[in-house]
Amino acid sequence: MKKLFLLPVLAIACLGSFAQTTMSLSIRDTSGPQINRNIYGHFSEHLGRCIYDGFWTGTKIRMDIVDALKKIKIPLLRWPGGCFADQYHWRDAIGPREQRKRTVNTTWGMVTEDNSFGTHEFLDLCGLLGCQPYIAGNVGTGTPEEMSNWLEYLNFNGKSTLADLRRQNGREQPWNVAYWGVGNESWGCGGEMTPEFYAGQYRRYSEFCKSYPGAPLKLIASGANGDDYNWTDVLMKNIPLRRTWGISMHYYTIVNNWQHKGSATQFGEDEYFKGLASCLHIEDLINKHSAIMDKYDPGKKVALVVDEWGIWTDAEPGTNPAFLYQQNSLRDALIAATSLNIFNNHSDRIKMANLAQTVNVLQALVLTDKDKMVLTPTYHVFDLYKAHQDATLLPVQFYSPDYVYDGRKLPAVNASASRDANGAVHISLVNIDPSKKITVRTSLQGISWKSVEGQVLTSASFTDINTFDQPAKVKPASFSGAKKEGNDLVVELPARSVVVLELK
Ligand code: AHR
Repeated sequence: MKKLFLLPVLAIACLGSFAQTTMSLSIRDTSGPQINRNIYGHFSEHLGRCIYDGFWTGTKIRMDIVDALKKIKIPLLRWPGGCFADQYHWRDAIGPREQRKRTVNTTWGMVTEDNSFGTHEFLDLCGLLGCQPYIAGNVGTGTPEEMSNWLEYLNFNGKSTLADLRRQNGREQPWNVAYWGVGNESWGCGGEMTPEFYAGQYRRYSEFCKSYPGAPLKLIASGANGDDYNWTDVLMKNIPLRRTWGISMHYYTIVNNWQHKGSATQFGEDEYFKGLASCLHIEDLINKHSAIMDKYDPGKKVALVVDEWGIWTDAEPGTNPAFLYQQNSLRDALIAATSLNIFNNHSDRIKMANLAQTVNVLQALVLTDKDKMVLTPTYHVFDLYKAHQDATLLPVQFYSPDYVYDGRKLPAVNASASRDANGAVHISLVNIDPSKKITVRTSLQGISWKSVEGQVLTSASFTDINTFDQPAKVKPASFSGAKKEGNDLVVELPARSVVVLELK
């Protein structure tokens, strides 16, 4: 079966069944929505070794990690959770470090938090990264007063006891934090609420989340778990949309099931296929949540924010299962690249996405072992795709050949394209078929171009990983499989690969 992708127009048609290794693709030079750079955002929670023994050594921020993330132009970082956000009390982690409270992270392993990494350290980290902060406030165990006090501490430039406390703690100017989550997973670890109850809480909390002068707030409501469309419907109907910048959705790629997710490194083609199938399912969720949002917000003023996504496998053997430390293979890079193509193509509604969770947790970009650091295959995808940040989406239309495994089928190819501010066109192509290369003939309508350059990310096996002993086993290489024929672009897309091309 072949599938027609007309993106972002959302037309998917089934057109008969035959195997092929060549395909046609067309890209039109029309002005689509801007791909918000925050689609390339990340998420870091007080969980396992993400913050402590990850970003934070106990006394300072690791600059090797900062430098690596600056290279991929990290636009935004979400913190402090996750589930942890709804047990976090910001006052425990300000002021002299030795006087900070000792608390217990009851969500992730009952470990003691010395709170040496708090508000100031997080915002210093964002300053070093040159990225926007996105803070998830505590609804589950907090109060509107605690949340509004935190905002005053962060964002008020005038004289007040809280603004003066910030100054006393070393920060003269307000940070003007804009992106603000009102709770996290309020249907689950954030308080087991019904959508009706949460909508009421959101109305109440958001009333006290003030935009201080020069610091307009962008409030993000805690959204649905995967396919919980009722959650989105109840929220869109009942919360004040005029003070809502976005509604979130969380979706994790799960290979088998939540009890037996599967290994990050030891898997065959069956689990490879199931992982990609689970990843591709996110497009169905986006279409359905977006359709509900369209009913209440046809002008698409409220963003859909995928503020947790990525593959979640079993933890590495021998590690604390509550720390969610997993390795990261070429399969995971293909999952990241596919997800980012989907987000790009839906950038009329999706304005932010945050991969879980940057360092040492889930689908991490960076793994550390004491002083050592390794960049994962997923990191390289974000490096290759950074050209799409803030570019104008160009609609891509194509028929994908099938990737067939054991009688089951998936579209082998996914793609997105954009034009940047300098006029260069970038095309990101993913071939998830693990053994077939595919020839892609692309017609570029209304686009004049002279040269093509590109990079490819692939490896001998989809289980290949980068380790501390072999840190560059999976890394991008320059790509020579693209050529100009008339105004057409012909690409020999290798099996199990991500290719990003620049046309000038
Ligand atoms: O990312 C790990 C956890 O997954 C987060 O804390 C929570 O929001 C989600 O369930």
